[in-house]
Amino acid sequence: MKITICCTDTNQQPWLAGLQAALPQAHVSIWSPSDPQADHAVVWAPPQQFLDEQPALKTLFNIGAGVDALMALRIPASTQVVRLDDAGMSVQMAEYVCHAVLRHFREFDGYAHDAAQGRWSYRKPRRKAQWPVGILGMGILGQRVARSLQAFDFKVQGWSRSAKDIPGVQTYTGAAQLADFLKTSKFLVCLLPLTPHTENILCQANLSQLPVGAYLINVARGAHLVEADLLALLDTGHLSGATLDVFRQEPLPEGHPFWAHPRITVTPHTSARTLRDESIAQIVSKIEALSQGHAIRGVVDLSRGY
Ligand code: NAP
Ligand code: GLV
Repeated sequence: MKITICCTDTNQQPWLAGLQAALPQAHVSIWSPSDPQADHAVVWAPPQQFLDEQPALKTLFNIGAGVDALMALRIPASTQVVRLDDAGMSVQMAEYVCHAVLRHFREFDGYAHDAAQGRWSYRKPRRKAQWPVGILGMGILGQRVARSLQAFDFKVQGWSRSAKDIPGVQTYTGAAQLADFLKTSKFLVCLLPLTPHTENILCQANLSQLPVGAYLINVARGAHLVEADLLALLDTGHLSGATLDVFRQEPLPEGHPFWAHPRITVTPHTSARTLRDESIAQIVSKIEALSQGHAIRGVVDLSRGY
């Protein structure tokens, strides 16, 4: 069995060592142009040339949850694309979103500001009933975030493409129920995949349906958000703030208005990182399952784009 690695912006040597140690019978190598055909590939944002040179690839293992970069490429017809299926990401995402929600709900920035001035000042406790959290995307990450917020007694609601039955979560489905979902989401968390249907979903028309004072958390992809629309809604006060982990251009360019905005928190696409050991273990167990003819989880439906 031959496995090739082609991961941009990644130190590939530890992936090579980890995969080779777990699969000693396989031939594992880092891809170079004109390499011989492999059976499986481990990739992150590979160039089109890589796919064009690997027409008989059986499986393309993406070392992230989102496959939008792959969807922009021509993928050989017989190749199945497999995304990371949690592999230690969902708990990180739950930590990040709970932190952002609690920081705003409990007004920790206000207390830090007061403390810096030596001021001992109380704020009136907020009522959770007035701060329901709406999660766009109730997949692997969205459901874990929902459970974690429920543990703090937040009212959680979720929106997805197909109907869901999740204990304690009010669920909404498809375009027809988006408006009802938005009008009751005081926090809005985006955990959608980036597809032609979800691009620009965080736009003026949708964000202005949120209750006045709503707070946005985008941890999915930068192209979900129309940046100028967010700035305008912060200016009018319709939105009270935003925590953003993902951007149209990454790294966020120097001088971008988000950097210095007093009500926007920026983090560098770090809410749920790929954990190498967990990812290698998952990929290896899927390669073994496939070689025994078993079905695996995480196969991307190319017609849906996620
Ligand atoms: P997932 O399991 O595929 O879940 C995606 C969810 O979005 C599903 O509930 C799906 O609905 C819903 N959805 C997709 N298209 C929709 C549409 N047009 N309308 C309504 N709902 C739609 O994905 P995941 O593992 O939770 O990851 C979600 C995304 O998070 C990734 O695609 C990636 O972009 C992002 N991410 C970011 C980071 C980071 O560090 N910032 C890390 C990991 C992932 P159904 O359930 O009905 O299919
Ligand atoms: C990270 O953004 C991922 O999609 O895994």
